[in-house]
Amino acid sequence: MGAVAIDCTLGQAGHARLILERITPGGRLLGIDRDPAAIEAGRRTLSDYHSAATLVQGSFGDLGELAAAAGFAGADMILFDFGISSAQLDEPERGFSFRADGPLDMRMDPKSPLTAAKIVNEYDVAEIQRILRQYGEERWAHRIAQFIVARRPLRTTRDLVQAVEAAIPRRAWPRDLHVATRTFQGLRIAVNDELGQIEQGLKAALQILNPGGRMATISFHSLEDRLVKSFFIVESKDCICPPQQPVCTCGHRASLRIVTKHVVRPSAEEVAANPRARSSRLRVAQKI
Ligand SMILES: C[S@@+](CC[C@H](N)C(=O)[O-])C[C@H]1O[C@@H](n2cnc3c(N)ncnc32)[C@H](O)[C@@H]1O
Repeated sequence: MGAVAIDCTLGQAGHARLILERITPGGRLLGIDRDPAAIEAGRRTLSDYHSAATLVQGSFGDLGELAAAAGFAGADMILFDFGISSAQLDEPERGFSFRADGPLDMRMDPKSPLTAAKIVNEYDVAEIQRILRQYGEERWAHRIAQFIVARRPLRTTRDLVQAVEAAIPRRAWPRDLHVATRTFQGLRIAVNDELGQIEQGLKAALQILNPGGRMATISFHSLEDRLVKSFFIVESKDCICPPQQPVCTCGHRASLRIVTKHVVRPSAEEVAANPRARSSRLRVAQKI
């Protein structure tokens, strides 16, 4: 009771509602999402909680500024549930899905300037390849980038799926993933600067957490999880000097205690009830 929570990825407000159930009366929650549609839906979903829930549109990369402006100087719990929501994925107009035809958009914030269409139609082969390799971990990145450039202009998600299908030899199509999964992931991460925002968001969360407060992250792929894991490891150490250095000169002090020694994965029952949770990985750390 009386706890202060920040949900940095409000989405469809499922977590926010569960948190509010536990911290009210007395507690309050700040809900943040880049997507104005999530904020609008969240206002309806959380309307029972009135002033206990403050919802703001913005990126958690700006968490420090957003929290200060909303009057949340400190927090006892901060949650990040990375990636896109089911509502975004299921709306063809947003361009996130390779299963439905839609515009090549992929922006979480419809006001941000970069779209997937701009990347596929204007960037050179080398830059598209880098995005697909680095953010999509796609080993066919070079060929896909060449096919994309040869087929310009690409107008819809179907055009993109067809370029990927043509670029990857049929025998090399993954068995457990849609053939365009990695391409879509890479573009989405680039369009929304997802990894840069995570790095900034984690640092800001550490500043805002009250001593004893906890931050929890839910990642959906190894790029996100790796950032969290290394952030937690570095911030839980008293010294981050290179191992060969005989005397510490960094002056770094641990500010986190890792609560989940190993990443937590969903149970088989949870995956059966919610198949989209199958690749989720939870990590929790506590501010010292
Ligand atoms: C997996 S969903 C969250 C689902 C949510 N936990 C729920 O219970 O419904 C991820 C949400 O985070 C938002 N998001 C992703 N990156 C963000 C960022 N940098 N800043 C703010 N919101 C972000 C997306 O717009 C999306 O609505």
